[in-house]
Amino acid sequence: MGQFEVVHYGRKKDNIKSPDHLGLEAAKKVQRFHSSFALYKETPLVSLKILSRALKVKNIYIKDESYRFGLNAFKVLGGSYAIGNYIAEKLGRDIDELPYRTMISREVKEKLGDITFISATDGNHGRGVAWTANKLKQKSVIFMPKGSAAERLENIRAEGAEVSVTDLNYDDAVRLADCYAKKNDWVMLQDTAWEGYEDIPAWIMQGYTTMAYETYLQLKEVKPTHIFVQAGVGSFAAAVQGFFASVYGEDRPITTIVEPDQAACIFQTAKANDGRIHPVKGDMNTIMAGLACGEPTTVGWEVLRDYSDNFVSCPDYVAAQGMRILGNPLNGDEKIIAGESGAAGFGFISEVLRNQELVWLKRELQIDENSVLLFFNSEGDTDKESYRRIVWDGLYSRPIL
Ligand SMILES: Cc1ncc(COP(=O)(O)O)c(C=O)c1O
Repeated sequence: MGQFEVVHYGRKKDNIKSPDHLGLEAAKKVQRFHSSFALYKETPLVSLKILSRALKVKNIYIKDESYRFGLNAFKVLGGSYAIGNYIAEKLGRDIDELPYRTMISREVKEKLGDITFISATDGNHGRGVAWTANKLKQKSVIFMPKGSAAERLENIRAEGAEVSVTDLNYDDAVRLADCYAKKNDWVMLQDTAWEGYEDIPAWIMQGYTTMAYETYLQLKEVKPTHIFVQAGVGSFAAAVQGFFASVYGEDRPITTIVEPDQAACIFQTAKANDGRIHPVKGDMNTIMAGLACGEPTTVGWEVLRDYSDNFVSCPDYVAAQGMRILGNPLNGDEKIIAGESGAAGFGFISEVLRNQELVWLKRELQIDENSVLLFFNSEGDTDKESYRRIVWDGLYSRPIL
């Protein structure tokens, strides 16, 4: 059976600056920008009451990002906000002065001239970048890692991008995109940061706070006791973590970062705890394609390091199990279509709460009958063939000992 490993950081109480760049006021500004899009509609926050009873917790909430802008994943929030900020900066304006209508106007296009945005992606980020570039009547070039799903490639191509699958892993595809950007004077629009490349990734991370802010409003008076966020480079997790840490301070929910054991770069960095980033190299064979990243984003790691309580590394079958449970709800609960990366956080907990051998982990995560658990379904069935093989045919089931 695959191994579960956890690194427990707990609360830090020393003088750490509140992550207000991801907090309420920052998120309101981001949401103002996104809500100017004709397609904008907040995504559902689903409460799985019957399942909570069965799993002996108080409530389970799932923010369902499969509904975001008709793109089946949350990622477009980041790419669009970064492009918006890039354009605002070029025009010497504030992004509040660039609502969607203005941003896609002929006047703005004439001022900007032709721009090519370039990025590397496992699918969702590239689709968001291509979608936004398309709306702006600009070009996009997208590189994908080897083994990328044909459906994800076609979805990017359908947005007018020049897209190709490389024979590289995610991190090397990012480096290749960066070389092309430098050589051709294109705009590198990557969702991961490194020393000297921070502005755009920081805007992308901020862009994701729309999702956290909507959740906060939808929860009304309810405060979750626990949040579980899956991580690739860690930008998505840091946006969620930063928002709730800024809003709740010391009373924030216990937050756990979930990664596949084949690509657990944030887990390894947390485990080493030596002030350095610890990349994972190689093919990173995991069904959670969106999480198959070997190098944590520097701007996200700083937030996760200071505020997250736990970091876990877990086997692929938890994501598959999460997809099956969410897609086949108990009577009275809503159905949620979650892709491999989308189901990771929930799948991990469904295993912890159902497998007697993992009681130790439930205890370590401090989950009991009063717990209110919050998850983010970050993608729907972005690879439908794989979705059916997992949900219909039962691929990647828990190994029987
Ligand atoms: C569906 C999905 N969930 C989660 C993530 C993780 O986001 P990040 O790379 O910012 O950690 C990704 C990244 O591509 C993704 O596509």
